Amino acid sequence: MLLDKLKHAPVVPLVQADDPDVALKTVAALKAGGLEIIEVVLRTDAAMVCLEAIAERAPDIIVGAGTVLSLEQAEESVRRGAQFIVSPGLNDEVVKYCQSRDMAVFPGVVTASEVQRAWNLGLRTVKFFPAGLSGGAAMLKALSSVFRDMQFMPTGGVSAANLNDYLAIPSVIACGGSWLTPQQEIDAGNFDAVTALAREALVTAQQN
Ligand code: 3PG
Repeated sequence: MLLDKLKHAPVVPLVQADDPDVALKTVAALKAGGLEIIEVVLRTDAAMVCLEAIAERAPDIIVGAGTVLSLEQAEESVRRGAQFIVSPGLNDEVVKYCQSRDMAVFPGVVTASEVQRAWNLGLRTVKFFPAGLSGGAAMLKALSSVFRDMQFMPTGGVSAANLNDYLAIPSVIACGGSWLTPQQEIDAGNFDAVTALAREALVTAQQN
């Protein structure tokens, strides 16, 4: 279901919030722009509370946890309502935990050996992180040519300017990133700007 939904709106905005009310306003703005699959990154003290608030009070949003570094964080994220897990790197424990729950998991990989290890763990979706600094779309094309049944979610350095380069690659299931939730606009309460960015990304995505 998550993967099906990503096909229609292949953009996953990152939400990094200190306050659940701000997180809720941010996801409402993203949803108004057509994006409803959201990754809450575990990089603030309030991240778990924000994740839980979205899971409970925004039921039309599919919320996942990002920057999940340990099994404990994965377990807590799921208790708080996460529907998918994203990690910057490949942690076997996190992957196996998600697989045991039949839950989507996107561990970060960059090299052919890392993709191979993910593939050996039974994964067919991974995050490509940090995409921009790891060779970008050209590197992803090279990896995709050999790992023909692997799907990638490039994240890290994705922006409105290069979204199309990634989404044009058939193995790219979605792109993730923080460009849709600029801290400055959120701090200023300018949630319309977030909606506009989401809408722009969706239009770009639907051109592919
Ligand atoms: C992540 O957590 O995936 C990255 O920090 C996202 O990178 P970005 O800020 O360049 O989108």
